[in-house]
Amino acid sequence: MSAAVYAGSFDVLTTGHMWMIDQGAKLFDQLIVAIGDNPAKKSMFDAPFRKELIQKSVKEVGHMNVQVHVFSGLYLFEYARACNVNYILRGVRNAEDFEYERVMRNLNGDFAPEIQTVCLMPPREIAEISSSIVKGLIGPEGWEHLVRTFVPAPVFEALNER
Ligand code: PNS
Repeated sequence: MSAAVYAGSFDVLTTGHMWMIDQGAKLFDQLIVAIGDNPAKKSMFDAPFRKELIQKSVKEVGHMNVQVHVFSGLYLFEYARACNVNYILRGVRNAEDFEYERVMRNLNGDFAPEIQTVCLMPPREIAEISSSIVKGLIGPEGWEHLVRTFVPAPVFEALNER
């Protein structure tokens, strides 16, 4: 059975992340969406709430082979090992992502050679979407109109309520 961990901070979950989850659910028998914290980034939503939003968004799409977990205090390769998966799934949108993912892939490969990193490139329509771009769009008059196209409905509701 093939299984993968798709890890990220998902603060906030975007349609780009949802594309990755959709592809991952089709490529692998099991997909674990793992919410971690990136110490370099300040979170808008806490991890349990991010988990709730991802679960709701995944349920709307209808994938039955996707689980959502929160992880902390472990390196990603250790977490992937603990989950007994053979793949780490990552998204690469541009050259900056590529450089970062290249280093991560090599380090994770050194520490856990039995786990392969699989990178997917999203289509151009969603390639410019990132959590930080979405957060940066919130505020000016009419932001709702722009932001609702970049995030799943449960996330849009949560942003609107904030
Ligand atoms: O979406 P992000 O912000 O790139 O996700 C970051 C996350 C949580 C996946 C990353 O920070 C992570 O893997 N953290 C666990 C610690 C770790 O493995 N760091 C990389 C060392 S090679």
